[in-house]
Amino acid sequence: MEKLADSLGRIAPSATVGISQKAREMASKGRDIIALSAGEPDFDTPNHIKDAAIAAIEAGKTKYTNVDGIDELKEAVAVKFRRDNNLEVSARDCFVGAGGKQIIFNALMATLNPGDEVIIPIPYWVSYPDIVRLAGATPVFAQANAETGFKLTPERLERAISKQSKWLILNSPSNPSGATYSAEELRQLGAVLERYPHVHILSDDIYEQLVYTGNDFATIGQVCPALAGRTLTLNGVSKSHSMTGWRVGYCTGPKHILSGMAKLQSQSTTNPCSISQWAAVEALNGSQQFLGYWREVFEQRRDMVVAELNNIKGIECLTPDGAFYVFPSIRRLLDKTSRNGQHIATDEDFVMALLEETGVALVHGSAFGLPGHFRLSYAASNDALEKALVRIGEFCDGLG
Ligand SMILES: Cc1ncc(COP(=O)(O)O)c(C=O)c1O
Repeated sequence: MEKLADSLGRIAPSATVGISQKAREMASKGRDIIALSAGEPDFDTPNHIKDAAIAAIEAGKTKYTNVDGIDELKEAVAVKFRRDNNLEVSARDCFVGAGGKQIIFNALMATLNPGDEVIIPIPYWVSYPDIVRLAGATPVFAQANAETGFKLTPERLERAISKQSKWLILNSPSNPSGATYSAEELRQLGAVLERYPHVHILSDDIYEQLVYTGNDFATIGQVCPALAGRTLTLNGVSKSHSMTGWRVGYCTGPKHILSGMAKLQSQSTTNPCSISQWAAVEALNGSQQFLGYWREVFEQRRDMVVAELNNIKGIECLTPDGAFYVFPSIRRLLDKTSRNGQHIATDEDFVMALLEETGVALVHGSAFGLPGHFRLSYAASNDALEKALVRIGEFCDGLG
């Protein structure tokens, strides 16, 4: 076979996509599968947003657009950042891409050189380290575990900073842990970052709208205005409006970085899909009423899932403040053998055996940099969650 690009040798296919694919293959062969591995809300895109897309098609808004997004969407994004996050930005400071992932890709590709380092707290979203590696730079991991509520502490941040640090990636609420930084915690991290003016901050706020009772969402650019000149604040409609397939993400950040990202985007996707952009205008400007209901449903499911998991011997699960994931520890279940005789040495063995023996698909913690855990997405019906929890419980009880 022809040799592929060396850069591809530095990265791995997405583990979350891999498990979901395996689950789909098993389902297509007739297995009864409950997939709790995917990272998308199970709600449909609200009708008023679909209607806006249909209207855009009918009005012929089906051509190339500005590279960095239509003016109407950049204006809606600026209004959103001012309204929800107190960021003093105008449409000129905003940028639209084909999903949050393309924004991250553009930002890192546009700014990183070999030798540069990017600080990534563990556990992390699977794509961060691989995009950094693809850009030829080096991920530097900063440990955050259950003892710190899966959050980076100021001490650990400071230890990870070097002369080569170009970016710190913060993700709150977090995929995979659901951990959500308070304004005060962000202020403390910000106080460290103020001493290191060469470090930029990529704040991945994609789960902003999914924060549950008693917690307020805060973003670092808002609580640490001194860092605004080197903070890229990223968001998108995938999780907030259940629009994962529409591919629209957006950000605000330093002008020179946005123009580098536009240069890159002009030579890759040209612009995000015109129809999806018009739908996103409606998503941001239109009614947000549905969100209250979604949050309520997610919160109830979270509470049910956490309680049930903690009832299973050997599993320990924190209650996350946001997103739609839980990230329990299964350390006490390792080095055991399943009823079907499979030895469970690692978290990956655990999720593979669980999938094969019970049909429940989860993702192993090591895919997110933290072995001894799994990620369960509760963006699934109550019925599916209840059945899955019974199966997980039986599987764990059968380990000996
Ligand atoms: C933490 C995080 N950031 C960014 C994204 C990218 O979302 P999208 O490209 O669909 O906007 C995801 C999606 O799973 C995510 O979990």
